[in-house]
Amino acid sequence: MSTAISPTAYNYKVVRQFAIMTVVWGILGMGLGVFIASQLVWPQLNLDLPWTSFGRLRPLHTNLVIFAFGGCALFGTSYYVVQRTCQTRLISDSMAAFTFWGWQAVIVGALITLPMGYTTTKEYAELEWPLAILLAIVWVTYGLVFFGTIVKRKTKHIYVGNWFYGAFIVVTAMLHIVNHISLPVSLFKSYSAYAGATDAMIQWWYGHNAVGFFLTTGFLGMMYYFVPKQAERPIYSYRLSIVHFWALITLYIWAGPHHLHYTALPDWAQSLGMVMSIILLAPSWGGMINGMMTLSGAWHKLRTDPILRFLVVSLAFYGMSTFEGPMMAIKTVNSLSHYTDWTIGHVHAGALGWVAMISIGAVYHMIPKLYGREQMHSVGLINAHFWLATIGTVLYIASMWVNGITQGLMWRAINDDGTLTYSFVEALQASHPGYIVRALGGAFFASGMLLMAYNVFRTVRAANPVQAEEAAKIVVVGAH
Ligand code: HEM
Ligand code: HEM
Repeated sequence: MSTAISPTAYNYKVVRQFAIMTVVWGILGMGLGVFIASQLVWPQLNLDLPWTSFGRLRPLHTNLVIFAFGGCALFGTSYYVVQRTCQTRLISDSMAAFTFWGWQAVIVGALITLPMGYTTTKEYAELEWPLAILLAIVWVTYGLVFFGTIVKRKTKHIYVGNWFYGAFIVVTAMLHIVNHISLPVSLFKSYSAYAGATDAMIQWWYGHNAVGFFLTTGFLGMMYYFVPKQAERPIYSYRLSIVHFWALITLYIWAGPHHLHYTALPDWAQSLGMVMSIILLAPSWGGMINGMMTLSGAWHKLRTDPILRFLVVSLAFYGMSTFEGPMMAIKTVNSLSHYTDWTIGHVHAGALGWVAMISIGAVYHMIPKLYGREQMHSVGLINAHFWLATIGTVLYIASMWVNGITQGLMWRAINDDGTLTYSFVEALQASHPGYIVRALGGAFFASGMLLMAYNVFRTVRAANPVQAEEAAKIVVVGAH
């Protein structure tokens, strides 16, 4: 196999920008998570001001962690992966720069408008129409950059990680545009084009697939590149990855109605959502197993490599949350879990354990490579971060399970005469210890992010521009 240095270089500038902002938004979004978790322990922290109340800060938390933190991780890693696996530079530097600045503008827009109370009221789609339009334009440009780069690739095959990133980009555009169709009545107020149960169905088709394609498929793209790279092993089964891809995207799109059990949605649609969700366990676990088994013969590396540990533990949490999800989609289970903290625990098993952990692992993998360094400034700090993140996630989800089941059982307990055994306030009082443990777990997780920021800062500061430029050179492996 011959190795030649191509005169051109990868566009690492935009990847570096997104990687750094992943850490910045991670700290802000998770810091805000700890704040709203504390508000549920000490309600005085609402500060009696409308813009600092839980109701306004909660959607800001979800927007910051999903779109700002998760989004920057997805943009950054996809630009890195598509260039390296296609052995070519991004198709357009200016369009890539536009996606970076445009995306930051959407997030700053969210930071300003959500605390002010401007919202469509649709969960995960709260941003009012001017921001939603900007987001759509940025997203379509992202698609053009990504697929344009695939078209001009120097390799024969399209690596499987790019299939997952590609599906995530296409489906997110479709979901965002269809769910946001609305009638603006002023600069900051619009009304959905859909009404009643149809509106609810469209919203949860969007909401569930935001989970399925934004929080899952995109991160699986990440998994298919960074796990084999960090483990220095080929992916366990290429064939399984193809089956995994098609099965996952075919099934996910039908599962949305499990968010609307026992509502005005037609019963057949609810049952369909339930059945599709249960079947979804198979491709989800297929993907998890494919990632885990990639470590065959490399398990010993886990002892010394905390980055690999982040990646593998994220897969374990992915497996856990995709087992829990199908169970919660069963109507009788959902009649207990819905409205309770069990859902919140499930969300964060996926969000902290899977989405955040795999992103953190990927960023630690990329940073030294992007800046021409051998490794991160401190492996010890990565290790400390790993433990803070793992313990934080476990505290969060365990406390929410206990709270969720307690709430579900207390709400449905009935006396012989048919009256309720417990008042709502009694169930709330029983939840208080769980809220303290959750806030503590969140504080663990968020403080790990501060260690990461310091470690990244030291690594970047130690880099010199010549080394960084050298690192971006395209090395073509294998003659063609
Ligand atoms: C330090 C870490 C975090 C803490 C302390 C935290 C805390 C919280 C709290 C207190 C809520 C509101 C729960 C309620 O209404 O009862 C919430 C909701 C939510 N968080 Fe987080 N969070 C953290 C990290 C994350 C991350 C990294 C993500 C995503 C990648 C995320 C995604 C969400 C989502 C989607 C919801 C809404 C859940 C629902 O409506 O069912 N969180 N979080
Ligand atoms: C096979 C995979 C999965 C299935 C079948 C599934 C199923 C479910 C079910 C049944 C609910 C509760 C709906 C309700 O009672 O309102 C739910 C909520 C949720 N799940 Fe999953 N889940 C899966 C994987 C994941 C993963 C990996 C993540 C995160 C990365 C995730 C994020 C969420 C979020 C954010 C919600 C809360 C939505 C809301 O009400 O705001 N899920 N999921």
